Amino acid sequence: MPEKKQFRAIKGTRDILPPDSALWSRVEQAARDVFANYGFGEIRLPIFEETELFARSIGAETDVVSKEMYTFQDPLDIEQIIQTLVRRGIDPTKIHLGEGFSKPQIWDALQQFEWLTLRPEATASVCRAYIEHGMHTLPGNVKLYYIGPMFRRERPQKGRYRQFYQIGAEVLGQSDAPAIDAELVEMLLVFFRRAGLGLTTLYINSIGDKNCRPQYVELLREELRKVKDQLREDSQRRIETNPLRVLDSKVAEEQPIIEKLPRIADHLCAECRDHFAKVKDELKLRGVAYEENWRLVRGLDYYTRTTFEVTAAGLGSQNAVCGGGRYDGLVELLAGPPTKGIGFAIGSDRTILSIQESDAEGWKRRLPGLAVFVAWMGAKSYPAAVSIARKLRDCGVSVELPPEEMKFKKSLGLADKLGARYALIIGEDEVASETYTLKRLSDAEQKKLNENDLLEYLESEKRSG
Ligand code: HAM
Repeated sequence: MPEKKQFRAIKGTRDILPPDSALWSRVEQAARDVFANYGFGEIRLPIFEETELFARSIGAETDVVSKEMYTFQDPLDIEQIIQTLVRRGIDPTKIHLGEGFSKPQIWDALQQFEWLTLRPEATASVCRAYIEHGMHTLPGNVKLYYIGPMFRRERPQKGRYRQFYQIGAEVLGQSDAPAIDAELVEMLLVFFRRAGLGLTTLYINSIGDKNCRPQYVELLREELRKVKDQLREDSQRRIETNPLRVLDSKVAEEQPIIEKLPRIADHLCAECRDHFAKVKDELKLRGVAYEENWRLVRGLDYYTRTTFEVTAAGLGSQNAVCGGGRYDGLVELLAGPPTKGIGFAIGSDRTILSIQESDAEGWKRRLPGLAVFVAWMGAKSYPAAVSIARKLRDCGVSVELPPEEMKFKKSLGLADKLGARYALIIGEDEVASETYTLKRLSDAEQKKLNENDLLEYLESEKRSG
């Protein structure tokens, strides 16, 4: 007999159990409702894609791509092998005849693997799908949202996981009107309010575009080289690979140095400056409060112009509950038509953690709990209990029906522990008289009701919440 082994969830992954999972559903439902009001439709995307898709769009030098992706090789299937042979000028129909190819060539083709990656984010996939389905021909802007797991090999800590969940939204199309940026941010904040998240702060910035950012990055690099000795190794490396990321540094000693660096706002081209000013006007028009943060550069390479982040209370260092921004040109970079884009992704894990931390007891009370526990006694009452449970459930009332007979006291004890609002008492006398006793567990108040009145009463209770 092999030794018995107890399995545990992999580091950085976790199970989400009731009642937390009910809060997750509620938060996700709030997103679905709010996003639908703003004209967004759901896109369901694959969990894995070609590695190259992420490398190209997020950027090979970013932490996400260079250190955090879950990448694996997948052997090519027969169809892909044939395509590879054809691409290499080998006619697969002639393989049996031994014509026009050499054995090493075929062996080489058969040894091919495809590199695949578990998605670390979904913007790249949305752009891939936009191109693949020719969505640029659709009328107006294409507005899509997604909900699901993402994977990054980060060091796990509170609010940071290797399998985490995002609720994201993207707007793709021909227009980069500042009103699009502002409406998207408005929608995001409406969602946070609807989901029950308390204090949030919205930070915004503009990081310029391909006309003005390269000069700024070069200027930043020059200035950083002058203070290189005073920076830590990570920042020193980034001076050459991605100087903007130095602005993201949380290292205390680096802060006074970073504060003196040139700011992008002073180096935006006229178009970007104008765009950013209009985004701010549009936010004001919508009553959206924001703080400008010139150091908000974001960790993914595809951003241009508007970037934003939302932080929430109770989360410690991992307090960003949402990140987003504009990515005009990303679709083109992936061989699609010229397209403007903007979007965000909300970290569900952190959003839910923040709701729970800010209202330790309250969040559970607001979840729909068990309404009725059917306390049946005596074999003759069982068929009536089954029938009533079914009818109540059909009316949308949540019911627990014990599968085996229990002593009355034990039954009420369990009903209480399960948090039921009512115990419905069905004994043989009740069955004979066709009236049942409904006991409210909070104050022990009892009502005797026939089946119709019982259904009506509980249904109206449910409607009034
Ligand atoms: P991001 O800033 O990498 O942006 O992630 C967005 C949010 O996902 C973060 O603010 C955070 O709440 C959550 N998050 C990220 N990594 C983890 C983790 N390891 N554990 C828990 N939560 C995490 C993006 O992913 C972009 N695709 C957003 C976007 C959409 N930009 C434009 N469109």
